[in-house]
Amino acid sequence: MRFWRSAAQAAVCVGLVALTGCDDDSGSDGADMGAGMGTDGVAYYSGAASAALGVAGNQATCATCHSNDGTDVGLSGVSLMDIAYRESFKGGGAPDLLAATNACVTGWMGGAALTADSAEWTALEGYLQSISDEAVTAPNALAPEVLADEAAYEAAYAGGDAAAGEAKYNAVCGVCHNSALKVGPTAAYPTAALRGYTAGRIAQKVRTSGPPPSGMNDAADSTPGPMPFFEPDELSSEDLADIIAYLKG
Ligand code: HEC
Ligand code: HEC
Repeated sequence: MRFWRSAAQAAVCVGLVALTGCDDDSGSDGADMGAGMGTDGVAYYSGAASAALGVAGNQATCATCHSNDGTDVGLSGVSLMDIAYRESFKGGGAPDLLAATNACVTGWMGGAALTADSAEWTALEGYLQSISDEAVTAPNALAPEVLADEAAYEAAYAGGDAAAGEAKYNAVCGVCHNSALKVGPTAAYPTAALRGYTAGRIAQKVRTSGPPPSGMNDAADSTPGPMPFFEPDELSSEDLADIIAYLKG
């Protein structure tokens, strides 16, 4: 089942990244990949080199939030498989792959924007191209669920199943919140701290990454702070309601 497979894979990656670089099979099976490129490039997707694109101390890699195998349920970002040749990115907000990547590098990981001719971008772009089909060009949709206020989120996510929510929380949120993972400059808060937020606030945070006062947040921006947002395609309403019931139960 896609949900658990991709989330478990991400969790394993986070745990192993320091030791192994968390390399993945798909780095070696791209038919059009130049010799050695996969080894270098995949490290910018899931290894220490990826985390180092962020601010000093950042532990998040592209693989923390994006699969490379076409799955996206349970992770905040779309899969990076077949990403390289899209006509536009971020719902039209980013014109090319470098701009879209830089939005993540600067916005979530707290790093400096990569330049087009840097060694880092050359290696990462090569890896992303190696897992992409040139025929896949249609942009992905970008549709964060924005409701009027916390009360609206509270109403929308009432009535979840706390027992079912525990495993979902550990798979989807635990990737960061069970290990105090540093996303950019900020360590994810422990589960006990999350229980102190209202249900509406938790739902709003998950759906939009906001509002203030967390860190670099700006309520007017749907990608404001180190914690990424999950669109309904990536985390269903039922799964989020269950997670909230688990946290508040
Ligand atoms: C903390 C989580 C996080 C990290 C780390 C992260 N991203 Fe993202 N990324 C997102 C989210 C959330 C979006 C926007 C919503 C979506 O993709 O569903 C996004 C969007 C993108 C997009 C645009 C996708 C599209 O079709 O519009 C690209 C490309 C991308 N990221 C590449 C990367 C790369 C490459 C890295 C590593 C250098 C990276 N991201 C790191 C969370 C993250
Ligand atoms: C990629 C790592 C990551 C994932 C996955 C993640 N979080 Fe977070 N979360 C963070 C970080 C870092 C912070 C602290 C900085 C901030 O508020 O953005 C945070 C903050 C929060 C807060 C504090 C809210 C506030 O208003 O400040 C809540 C609640 C929360 N997360 C809930 C969740 C839930 C529920 C999930 C799963 C659906 C989840 N998070 C998944 C990294 C993550």
